Amino acid sequence: GGGGDDAAAGGGGGGDTISIGFSQVGAESGWRAANTKSIQDTLTTENGFELSFSDAQQKQENQIQAIRSYIAQGMDVIAFSPVVETGWDAVLQEAKSAGIPVILTDRAVDTPDDSLYESFIGSDFVLEGERAGEWVAENFDGQGMKLVELQGTTGSAPAIDRKEGFATAIEGTDIEVIDSQTGDFTRAGGKQVMEGFLNSHDQIDIVFAHNDDMGLGAIEAIEAAGLTPGEDIKIVTIDAVKDGMQALADGKINYIVECNPMLGEDLAEVAKKVVAGEEVEKRIVVEDAEFTQEQAAEALPTREY
Ligand code: AHR
Repeated sequence: GGGGDDAAAGGGGGGDTISIGFSQVGAESGWRAANTKSIQDTLTTENGFELSFSDAQQKQENQIQAIRSYIAQGMDVIAFSPVVETGWDAVLQEAKSAGIPVILTDRAVDTPDDSLYESFIGSDFVLEGERAGEWVAENFDGQGMKLVELQGTTGSAPAIDRKEGFATAIEGTDIEVIDSQTGDFTRAGGKQVMEGFLNSHDQIDIVFAHNDDMGLGAIEAIEAAGLTPGEDIKIVTIDAVKDGMQALADGKINYIVECNPMLGEDLAEVAKKVVAGEEVEKRIVVEDAEFTQEQAAEALPTREY
């Protein structure tokens, strides 16, 4: 709230600057790097924010610790992208009791009490999975194809929702999901799990990876096995970050459904409204595109992330 205090901005609670603590999932993927950049580039001093940023290295206990420290510091707002869906009620209740509003970005929490957060800004992950599955069904149904799935982080909203959306979309086709394991959204994880799949299955025709990075890891494993990614084994992923789009344009990936990481602007707007006591939307759905190989080649030169 505005005060006549003309002391330099930056001291907690002084002037009009909004202090915001952001607990990020980690640095597991190209998507995450773009998302972090968007948040850090938007929540700046020039834009009226004093940002405390922390990286939880994909561990829920680190996020809980960061949130508790933001509560102890009396931040104006706390925002975070929950690594997994469950187990947040206690810490969110602590924030609520301290009168600190919480905004979720990117990933949802699974809680019966939606008064524990103000707003959730992010993509519709079920729809992303569905769109990936629809493309696979349209292009490969009726050919007796066998598919393996590289899942994201176990218990995370995008892994749960993309798996569900994809399964719904290929239901009733003859595409058979012969294996599905987590690669934790990382390139190394995708590579390792794909190596295992290639060792244990005679026939793999399609890979559905829950993100580009795991798909890029799978490409390495497929090439190491002497096969051609995009041809011998088709690959469909989600994110559409630079490296993924390059592999798509190069013919090594066959299709990508976008997950838009540019959440900084929406977060800044919602945070300002919440602090001003204005109404905010409980759910802000971010729009995603999708790309064929030709479309990727066209989009790449002007692509931001
Ligand atoms: O929560 C979004 C997902 O997290 C992205 O699709 C993935 O790349 C990231 O790790």
